[in-house]
Amino acid sequence: RQRLIMDVDTGIDDSLALLYLLASPEAEIVGIASTAGNVPAPQVAANNLAWLDVCKAGPIEVSLGSEAPLVIPLRTTEDTHGPQGIGYAVLPESARELSVRPASDMWVDLVREFPGEVIGLCTAPLTNLALALRREPALPQLLQRLVIMGGAFNYAGNTTPTAEWNVSVDPEAAKVVFDAFSAAPPDRRPIVCALDITETIEMHPAHVDRLAEIAGGASNPLVGYLSDAIRFYMEFHRDHNQGYIAHMHDPFAAAVALDPSLVTTRPATVDVELAGTLTRGMTVADLTGMWGRPPNVEIATTTEPAVFFDRLIERVGTFARN
Ligand code: BDR
Ligand code: CA
Repeated sequence: RQRLIMDVDTGIDDSLALLYLLASPEAEIVGIASTAGNVPAPQVAANNLAWLDVCKAGPIEVSLGSEAPLVIPLRTTEDTHGPQGIGYAVLPESARELSVRPASDMWVDLVREFPGEVIGLCTAPLTNLALALRREPALPQLLQRLVIMGGAFNYAGNTTPTAEWNVSVDPEAAKVVFDAFSAAPPDRRPIVCALDITETIEMHPAHVDRLAEIAGGASNPLVGYLSDAIRFYMEFHRDHNQGYIAHMHDPFAAAVALDPSLVTTRPATVDVELAGTLTRGMTVADLTGMWGRPPNVEIATTTEPAVFFDRLIERVGTFARN
């Protein structure tokens, strides 16, 4: 089985990413880092623990990340994800305990424990991975693969006109992470799933209906929590003129983490704008080598959304039924 570290700011779509991996037989989540982003880190951690409970998951380490970005104060977005970060869902409080080690220590310890084996999946601001990289500069070589949901390369952000949320919340951390891969060989470059591709992954109410049907109907408790979460996310998208749909940014990145063949990619040298008064947090991609610096990422460029949705619905629906 593939060992994964998830770094999340749960988060409605982070929740679905977690469920997707729990429902995937080839995945073994070895640690979940709770990162400040959509909601504060302690709330993210509480959500992660609560999802593990309602999914009857075995013991999985959940660690608490830094409560704030590297340099700037934390911004959260309860408007997008609900007061607790999981939309209208109200999960029973978990009795599970948080890890005694901070999220960045968990990253370092786990990649050292399983050198070359761990897949990193980041669907949140990159604060804790940046802290881990400061402690263990060899972390890029110790990972099997890294998949990041973040950035926007077509200059259409979702947080500012040019910046995507995960990068915008902690641009300094994102730069630390991208810079850390500047010498990575092609097969070690992080795969970046930016808005350009994740906004093509639209969940429609019919997808939720199909999932519920596989799970045995709306009375299934997990389906109930999920629908309550997703309904909030769809209303948010509707209120922002995107239609009654929800973008599955993070579950898509989770699926790519397990199976990179879901996407085609292109190499690029990516840097983060830290100084711009209008463009801070923007991910700038050099696609043709103008900077004279080697590529540090693979940008996911194309995918077949239906293949992803079939997998998501089948896996999570079957998981919820059992
Ligand atoms: C990202 O921002 C967060 O709100 C989502 O969970 C996702 O990780 C999309 O820009
Ligand atoms: Ca997220």
